[in-house]
Amino acid sequence: MTTSIPFSTDAATPAVPRTMTAAVARRFGGPDVVEVTQVPTPEPRADEVLVRVRATTVSIADHRLRAADLPRGLGFLRIVALGAFRPRKPVLGMEAAGEIVRVGADVTDFAVGERVMVMRGSAMGCHAQYVRARAGGAVVPIPGAMSYEDAAAILFGGYTAVSFLDRVELQPGTRVLVNGASGAVGTAAVQLAAAAGAHVTAVTSARNADLVRSLGAERVVDYLSEDFAAGDDRWDVVVECVGNAPFTRVERVLAPGGALLLVIADGPSMLRERSQSRRSGLLVTHEGSVFGKAALERVAAHAAAGELRPVIDRTFDLDDIARAHRYVDTGRKRGAVVVRVP
Ligand SMILES: NC(=O)c1ccc[n+]([C@@H]2O[C@H](COP(=O)([O-])OP(=O)(O)OC[C@H]3O[C@@H](n4cnc5c(N)ncnc54)[C@H](OP(=O)(O)O)[C@@H]3O)[C@@H](O)[C@H]2O)c1
Repeated sequence: MTTSIPFSTDAATPAVPRTMTAAVARRFGGPDVVEVTQVPTPEPRADEVLVRVRATTVSIADHRLRAADLPRGLGFLRIVALGAFRPRKPVLGMEAAGEIVRVGADVTDFAVGERVMVMRGSAMGCHAQYVRARAGGAVVPIPGAMSYEDAAAILFGGYTAVSFLDRVELQPGTRVLVNGASGAVGTAAVQLAAAAGAHVTAVTSARNADLVRSLGAERVVDYLSEDFAAGDDRWDVVVECVGNAPFTRVERVLAPGGALLLVIADGPSMLRERSQSRRSGLLVTHEGSVFGKAALERVAAHAAAGELRPVIDRTFDLDDIARAHRYVDTGRKRGAVVVRVP
């Protein structure tokens, strides 16, 4: 039985049940720890909207939080970031696309029925039928007639790529190498760099060569047969999305004034990046520079301009989310693994 939440005062607004279906991980472990069950529906605060989630994704971040899989040297963050004995955020999911079903009393810039995309980031909670979002935070209208699934698919990679590429000035002719070009972040970074007029080299395996070329890469390096860091080519920007290209490997192929954007870095790399930057005159950083609504607005604008297209590998229903986790765990997904929330 479902009963409506009492804060539903306007007859025109859709009823919101007191409980909702969500994917819940109550312990760390493999995909089977994720259980689809009923939990209380969140209530929006005065400055928040409540979104009926239609689509979300299982990202590598969900894998990391579910499996307590942190990069080398960052284990000390586990208790703070993930939880001591069980996941601090049992409902995973960083991002969602859906429609607004409630607006808090102080919210003036959103209305019930509006189609929005939401990036909750480490607050998680999007693998569920409803999610709260602060109206002033990372929630923006979905551009045009984009489907919920397409909108969900561009969020994780697009948001990350926008944030990191903001650290550098991309111009026509800038030479950009994306390591891990076929993943969620890589597919977005290739597209955004190409849209800025950069010459993009994509590092991936041969099976993904056509995909990354279709996204704008001029050159493809198959990492199984060629080491991009061993040749004579030079790049102005290297976007590292794999975890095997620290500064010590990449320094020799960075052009003077170049940048290494460490989307993924281990503890030792993070500790050394300042001294490496000082010594080399290159930018070495594991931090992006634009977040929240501003970053999401840019993701939406790139999508509206046709510069950021969704790359969807597979789609699963929420009931089947453990299979989505299993697939993401392979490390071989291309772009996004979308979860429909019926
Ligand atoms: N700092 C941040 O804020 C932030 C935000 C988002 C993500 N991240 C991190 O960034 C990394 C990338 O995230 P993602 O979502 O893009 O991951 P993803 O979608 O899971 O990446 C999967 C892709 O990686 C490729 N890959 C695997 N090994 C490779 C190798 N040795 N060389 C080149 N490509 C390889 C695979 O292609 P093949 O099948 O061809 O091997 C696959 O297409 C993750 O480690 C994630 O934790 C950080």
